[in-house]
Amino acid sequence: MKLFIDSANLDEIREAASWGIIDGVTTNPSLIAKEGRDFIETIHTICGLVDGPISAEVIAPTAAGMIAEGKALASLHKNVVVKVPLNIEGLKTCKALSSEGIGVNVTLCFQPAQALLAAKAGATYISPFVGRLDDICEDGVQLIKSIVDIYRQYPDLKTQVLAASIRHPLHIVQVAAVGSHVATLPFKVLKALYSHPLTDKGNAAFLKDWETVPNKDILAQVAAFQARQGSAA
Ligand code: E4P
Repeated sequence: MKLFIDSANLDEIREAASWGIIDGVTTNPSLIAKEGRDFIETIHTICGLVDGPISAEVIAPTAAGMIAEGKALASLHKNVVVKVPLNIEGLKTCKALSSEGIGVNVTLCFQPAQALLAAKAGATYISPFVGRLDDICEDGVQLIKSIVDIYRQYPDLKTQVLAASIRHPLHIVQVAAVGSHVATLPFKVLKALYSHPLTDKGNAAFLKDWETVPNKDILAQVAAFQARQGSAA
């Protein structure tokens, strides 16, 4: 499963990218507004930080407006994926842009029938919102499973399921278990993924025990070993 970071914060994206596990980035108008920076500059900068799909969302109310905005955003960088809402205007936009080879992420998906429509419109990604469904006592992970299952019935559909609105590490494990192609995570969830108290405790014990080893410097020992091997040859 690919991992995207769901953020428009350049420091977070830079830090997450340095870990070597980030495949792409998703933004939305709320995330862009939160940072208070220029939208276009932000997307352009993100494209330089992560070599993968970078979702940038349109805001026009009509398909004509969305198509114009989408083409403009796509012209910024080859990795820009145009994000459109899952309504009629968004679907028309998806069809138009995908027919021209522009990647489209159809967002705000809350039920499987919507996902089927997005796939038929040529979406590259469908973004079902897991956490927002859980918030209203519906099963967000079950939605991911339903969509994955439906898409599998029709191998001609190439749309990838991008689990969005992820709130905690368990969501990642659950959406991976049901076959989501991608999950997009806020930075705080990404950080929580690798944390485990037993890992920290175990590592501290290993390092403490190493203090009792006579020769502690691994690099010096390897160099000395190789020198001995060389002189023996
Ligand atoms: C998806 O691309 C959205 O940006 C995001 O995952 C929404 O998450 P939220 O429900 O935490 O706002």
